[in-house]
Amino acid sequence: MTTTITLTGAGGQIGYALLFRIAAGDMLGPDEKVRLRLLEIPQGLGAAEGAALELQDGAFGLLEHVEVTDDPAVGFDGCDLALLVGARPRGPGMERGDLLAANAGIFGPQGAAIAAHASSDVRVTVVGNPANTNALIAAAAADGIPAERFTALTRLDENRARAQLAQTLAVPVDTIRRVPIWGNHSATQFPDVSHATVAGEPVAKALEAIVGDVPTWLDETFIPRVAKRGAEIIRVRGSSSVASAANATIEHVRDWVHGTDDWTSAGVVSHGEYGVPAGLISSFPVRSIDGEWQIVEGLEISEWAQARIDASVAELVEEREAVRALGML
Ligand code: NAD
Ligand code: LMR
Repeated sequence: MTTTITLTGAGGQIGYALLFRIAAGDMLGPDEKVRLRLLEIPQGLGAAEGAALELQDGAFGLLEHVEVTDDPAVGFDGCDLALLVGARPRGPGMERGDLLAANAGIFGPQGAAIAAHASSDVRVTVVGNPANTNALIAAAAADGIPAERFTALTRLDENRARAQLAQTLAVPVDTIRRVPIWGNHSATQFPDVSHATVAGEPVAKALEAIVGDVPTWLDETFIPRVAKRGAEIIRVRGSSSVASAANATIEHVRDWVHGTDDWTSAGVVSHGEYGVPAGLISSFPVRSIDGEWQIVEGLEISEWAQARIDASVAELVEEREAVRALGML
């Protein structure tokens, strides 16, 4: 079988980190051939074309074809998986509203082009920030494609949370499970350890033995560290996270297509679960079953946790209102 994958922002940093892993089979497995469509704006075409030459030189057995274009109609033609990475970064003097408007101008037309040209069962993963609201804008513009097909990447946040827990507990990271991210991919996000386990045992008990006062550690150390990790990477590295973001994108799509054996996190459309207003694209604990994300329902949520979820969701509501006020939703 062959899957057609469209990558926007293919000439950018995350694009460069993603392309070779996709071609090597890390995303869809060793039996699935891939056709890549690299969609850029004119200024990014040279970098995307260079990446295409290097893909050729990689002699990847799974890679059937690569096409570079700045035309969304060509870029999304027959697309099965759309990775929307290209976005307008915040420039000097740009306010939050300017950033939302600039990105609405990108993700609205891309949503419409997906509806017009992609496969009817296309799966869309938005990485470009503000990822949740960009996914909302694209979904709203994609007439005839269910909103469930549009997701925002929050897997990186979950990976960061699991890694911080593993480091604190001095255990291998793959022994840590069930650490969902709720809300927005932003500093208001809520990485939730209430249901987390380490080697099958509650994380809270293990944490107590090491950090003492767990609620204080969560409030003052863990949550801010995870929620502000993107800013920490920018400060230390001089630019935003790239390889870890590409890795999380690979894992998100792999799990969406192939299924999960436990919970993970993804920004998916709300139907009102856990008090999140219907229609918002919010991060939830999810499972992937039969190729579809399903929100894990029925979890016990403490008052403290619900307040954290509500605060991040309030930011998503604000972003939606700001885009609506611009007449772009
Ligand atoms: P980058 O600036 O290196 O690359 C972005 C590329 O997108 C550029 O080549 C640019 O030409 C292209 N582009 C811009 N508008 C486009 C459009 N309309 N169509 C197609 N291509 C377009 O940035 P990067 O480091 O690759 O990051 C990309 C995005 O991912 C940023 O918005 C960043 O904030 C975001 N990000 C998200 C997460 C997450 O977890 N969700 C993590 C890290 C970074
Ligand atoms: C990240 O989480 O690393 C990025 O979303 C940060 C950013 O602002 O690009």
